[in-house]
Amino acid sequence: MSKTIILALLATYMISITLAASNSPTCSSHLAFAKAKNVLTNVLQSDSKGKSKNEALQKQFQNAKPANRTAADLGVCSQYANQNSCCDKNMVKLIDTAALLKVKPILQSKSAFQKLVSVYVTQVTKNCSNTVLPSTPLTFDAIFANTTLKVLQANKTAQATCRINFAKAISSFTRGALCSICAGVEKINDYFNAQGQLKVSQSSVNTFLQSTDQAISCTASFFTPSNIELIVKELNAAYIKNNDKCGANVLDNIKTIFANPKISNDDGKGGKVCKGTTIFGDNSACENILQGDASLEKKLRLLRAEEEEINRLLQASSDAVIDPNGVSVYTTSNSDNQIDETGNGIAPNFDQISTNNSIMIGFTALSISLFALLF
Ligand SMILES: *[C@@H]1O[C@H](CO)[C@@H](O)[C@H](O)[C@H]1NC(C)=O
Ligand SMILES: *[C@@H]1O[C@H](CO)[C@@H](O)[C@H](O)[C@H]1NC(C)=O
Ligand SMILES: *[C@@H]1O[C@H](CO)[C@@H](O)[C@H](O)[C@H]1NC(C)=O
Ligand SMILES: *[C@@H]1O[C@H](CO)[C@@H](O)[C@H](O)[C@H]1NC(C)=O
Ligand SMILES: *[C@@H]1O[C@H](CO)[C@@H](O)[C@H](O)[C@H]1NC(C)=O
Repeated sequence: MSKTIILALLATYMISITLAASNSPTCSSHLAFAKAKNVLTNVLQSDSKGKSKNEALQKQFQNAKPANRTAADLGVCSQYANQNSCCDKNMVKLIDTAALLKVKPILQSKSAFQKLVSVYVTQVTKNCSNTVLPSTPLTFDAIFANTTLKVLQANKTAQATCRINFAKAISSFTRGALCSICAGVEKINDYFNAQGQLKVSQSSVNTFLQSTDQAISCTASFFTPSNIELIVKELNAAYIKNNDKCGANVLDNIKTIFANPKISNDDGKGGKVCKGTTIFGDNSACENILQGDASLEKKLRLLRAEEEEINRLLQASSDAVIDPNGVSVYTTSNSDNQIDETGNGIAPNFDQISTNNSIMIGFTALSISLFALLF
């Protein structure tokens, strides 16, 4: 190659970089990206492959040239089709997978229903003498897996469905929030109000409210005194000999402990804990509702600091407003079919997400050209 050609190539490359940089608005200053990128990063932190794909794709996003994308390109984020989006199909796959991964730790933490069985073990061990108990000490795992306990198993299966539906609602909501980074650069300022709050559609917020409300009240229905009685009486009959009277004490104590399990969507101030308008901020008070009161297993009063922490979480602030031209923040996906009760079935495949190293290729070409010029 002659030096003239190399120089011409070099000039073209520099001009295209400059043009991309001076074209406003840019992907690097995308308002939704600025707000959502930490959500994406936090969720993917736990997965080493997810973490590195995230780092590469976030860089790529910021350096991208907005392009008019089709619905097929944007997959689960297709509501932003035909806009000048900074997303490509790999970023959308990352978003889809991150929304799924978000609920894994939530499902892996102990549910209030699991706590009920743990508390049973504690109470029986405390309140019944060894002579009326099985020779091998009672364990949570043995009881939870005992298929001859019909009430326990029927309730366990039924509450698992509520828990899965709840996780699907959280995942869909997270996906909807993350998709906002795919909004076209020419549209993005219309999607935020002057206070920097995302404008969201009434119908998507309603879907989130309905799904979470339903799952929460469904879960709470297992902790009514009469239902606790059904479960505990079956356990007593299975594990306490001769109908010993300690069984009645155990039942009373468990009813007291679960008198207010705090599986409720009521924030105590006339609002909902799962509001549907905390999009980018801390939503953990909502996400952890099905675990019930943190003190259930401890049976101790919470420390003052813990209570304050919980109150702080309950006051999670809204960062969105309902607007007729708002975006949908509830995006379902087939990926969520992986959601199971324990979260153990969630095993995202990050290999199908490729990162673009075109920027690297650009720099390599530039360096080679410089070398050719110099020598
Ligand atoms: C990534 O590569 C695809 C082709 O594989 C290209 O269309 C796209 O413009 C590239 N994106 C960036 C940010 O360079
Ligand atoms: C993107 O392309 C579609 C189909 O060609 C067109 O209708 C739409 O106006 C384009 N959008 C932008 C922002 O250029
Ligand atoms: C067993 O339960 C009864 C009734 O709640 C209570 O009075 C008693 O102190 C308990 N016994 C033990 C050893 O915890
Ligand atoms: C728990 O299981 C019992 C027995 O199948 C059933 O009668 C009861 O309605 C179940 N509880 C709930 C809340 O579904
Ligand atoms: C399972 O429950 C039955 C009573 O339904 C009881 O006889 C048996 O010991 C229990 N098995 C375990 C491993 O807990």
